[in-house]
Amino acid sequence: MADLKFDGRVVVVTGAGAGLGRAYALLFGSRGAKVVVNDLGGGRHGDGSSSNAADAVVDEIVRNGGTAVADYNSVVEGEKIIQTALNKFGRVDVLINNAGILRDKSFAKISDQDWDLVHAVHLKGSFKTTQAAFPIFKKQNYGRVIMTASNSGLYGNFGQANYSAAKLGLVGLANTVAIEGRKYNIFCNVIVPTAASRLTEDILPPDLFAELKPELIAPVVAYLCHESCQENGSIIEAAAGWAGRCAIVRSNGALLRQKPEDQVSIEAVKDNWSTIRNLSNAQKLDTIEDATGALMASLDALRGTGGDRNAEDVDSFEF
Ligand code: NAI
Repeated sequence: MADLKFDGRVVVVTGAGAGLGRAYALLFGSRGAKVVVNDLGGGRHGDGSSSNAADAVVDEIVRNGGTAVADYNSVVEGEKIIQTALNKFGRVDVLINNAGILRDKSFAKISDQDWDLVHAVHLKGSFKTTQAAFPIFKKQNYGRVIMTASNSGLYGNFGQANYSAAKLGLVGLANTVAIEGRKYNIFCNVIVPTAASRLTEDILPPDLFAELKPELIAPVVAYLCHESCQENGSIIEAAAGWAGRCAIVRSNGALLRQKPEDQVSIEAVKDNWSTIRNLSNAQKLDTIEDATGALMASLDALRGTGGDRNAEDVDSFEF
């Protein structure tokens, strides 16, 4: 297969001075993209700033024959990062929201500052940067966006309630950006990485740490951002040279009343609990319409009408 190239594309990678972002930036740089290497250059808890991290990665890309520019803004001011892309390269095609910090504490000990800073960098930073790029993508009828979530968000992780909440928030953000962007050829997907970096050096077991090179994840992110990739609105987990798709599923559930005029009793919920939570025939629903449609079907079952519903019925259904 011919190499997948990014010639003529401008790729913005936030938090690209280290870890995963650095690996992404180097790969894009080696495949013909012009890269904006954004990094605030602070500590892992969101403290301080420095131009060194971004500069070092730009130097590496240029040394390898690529094209890159450094940007030192915080993602919280994401519009400035997109402006750097426009000033230096005149366009932007791909945005990888990757910058991140940790402020791990057990739930009871999380301060407002621990909560706010983590949300500012991950969630607000991705919002601000993506919102600045979106009108440009729309106008050129092309854009690729990556949000970076985490298994801490999908499953929870001790000591990371603030981070978990922000990371799953990014899945919600990506879901809707994917819907609103689709008709403009703007695709937005979520990457769920596990990689050796300064964020995980004291979290991952040492033998595992050595195997989890960020370079093993970068090609997955690069493919998702290639013009030939039609994936949109998906959550892709990648680590250690493996990649797979994650999804939220719903059980078939149980009807909790027999007739439309019946109420639902607590006892009926208890009696049906094993059916409610049984995921053996669970389905992945692709859209909110599918979800409301399934609810309407359960109402039909209750009324004994069983008829097909049209989109109008579904749209008029309100929670
Ligand atoms: P890292 O600490 O090596 O890299 C993150 C970079 O983001 C740093 O260079 C940092 O200076 C930069 N940064 C922090 N705040 C910034 C801000 N406000 N504006 C601009 N840049 C900023 O960490 P790593 O592991 O490479 O993480 C990258 C992303 O992947 C993060 O979003 C992280 O939460 C996520 N992630 C990483 C996992 C892993 O196993 N390493 C697991 C799940 C998610």
